[in-house]
Amino acid sequence: MDAHRPHPMMPESNHDEIAEQLAIVDMKVFLGTKIDPGQRMLLEKKVRPEFEKREGREARNHQELRKEMEQEPSYQAYVTMTSVAQDMMWDAVGTCIDRQIDDLMDRAEIENPKGSVRTNPDFEVPRYIAAQDIHRMPGNYHGTYGERDVRQGALFDRGAVVYQMGRNGGYMNDIRGHTIVSHYFARWPDGQPKRVLDMGCSVGHSTLAVANNFPEAETHAIDVGAGMLRYAHARAERLDTPVHFSQQNAECTDFEDESFDLICSSAILHETSGKALPNVFKECHRLLKPGGAMVHLEVPARLDELDTWGRIRGDYEIQYNYEPFWKGALTADYKKLCQDIGLNDIEVGYQDAAFKAERGNTGFGGPSKGVHRSWLMISAVK
Ligand SMILES: C[S@@+](CC[C@H](N)C(=O)[O-])C[C@H]1O[C@@H](n2cnc3c(N)ncnc32)[C@H](O)[C@@H]1O
Repeated sequence: MDAHRPHPMMPESNHDEIAEQLAIVDMKVFLGTKIDPGQRMLLEKKVRPEFEKREGREARNHQELRKEMEQEPSYQAYVTMTSVAQDMMWDAVGTCIDRQIDDLMDRAEIENPKGSVRTNPDFEVPRYIAAQDIHRMPGNYHGTYGERDVRQGALFDRGAVVYQMGRNGGYMNDIRGHTIVSHYFARWPDGQPKRVLDMGCSVGHSTLAVANNFPEAETHAIDVGAGMLRYAHARAERLDTPVHFSQQNAECTDFEDESFDLICSSAILHETSGKALPNVFKECHRLLKPGGAMVHLEVPARLDELDTWGRIRGDYEIQYNYEPFWKGALTADYKKLCQDIGLNDIEVGYQDAAFKAERGNTGFGGPSKGVHRSWLMISAVK
């Protein structure tokens, strides 16, 4: 599928909606490329020297300097503009979805599907997801508004086109999925999984890249929202990729023991609580066949690799973008988590982002090249 064109399930945007969405992309680019570096300069050229002069010592940690930054009108404006840009994005995309929601629900009715979707009206959304609207997305991942509803899936899919600003594979948003497969090929060049599970699939951005790289495999994908999963199913069918979606918690699924050759996830660990994280790994261990592989993709940084501004920027994600487990993911000892549950052949390192996964193209093991150029991979074998 052409990443430069909307796929058949993508909500349509009219002339004015596209103009509005592009203006928001411009605003986000401006904030990221002009205002963000300006804040780093404010910290290093003014706030830090003034703190050291006044206190007669260096700051003990980044929080001390963040508190100083919080007194600066320029930082206050940066925080406000960044949050407002995010809210404007969801508002613009949400309005565009709402005017066509009936059409989207009709488009989501698929005759003779190759894959499936299984929702669970009694599903209990984990508290760490339900507690706040992650990424400030109204309705979050799990909001569902009736039996045929697909709104949150449509919102997330169209929103991701604006949010990712083309850095994750245009309209397909599948670079992370190709990067997972790239990593799998880097580690197991001849691997041919027969049964694959993607945990925390949302609308299947990464799932489809994984499934299409292993067309012989039966691919399953789970997430927490019925509306999200119905949309994911329709999207996969309209992109001719059979996937079996189900509404399940990655900590405790209903799949049989030792039933998957490959279990992967993309960008879910930083949205999972510290308590839930070992449960997810234990569940992977339970579900993997002996010799099966686990591959998780995460944000490409460790806290100790970040400078002070990088850490303050991380605090923004926690405080204002409602990513409460950001720091936990950047400090988690993934190797130990894998060792504790008896996984072998463990690797934790950076993988180059891949537009298209290819066997024999490794790109694993160097330093992080930054967000969207590298991803942190945690992989192991049962
Ligand atoms: C940032 S999104 C990543 C989406 C997708 N994997 C991708 O690469 O585009 C994180 C997803 O993980 C899901 N998630 C988080 N914790 C989960 C859990 N315990 N069980 C199932 N899904 C979970 C969220 O609902 C959300 O859809």
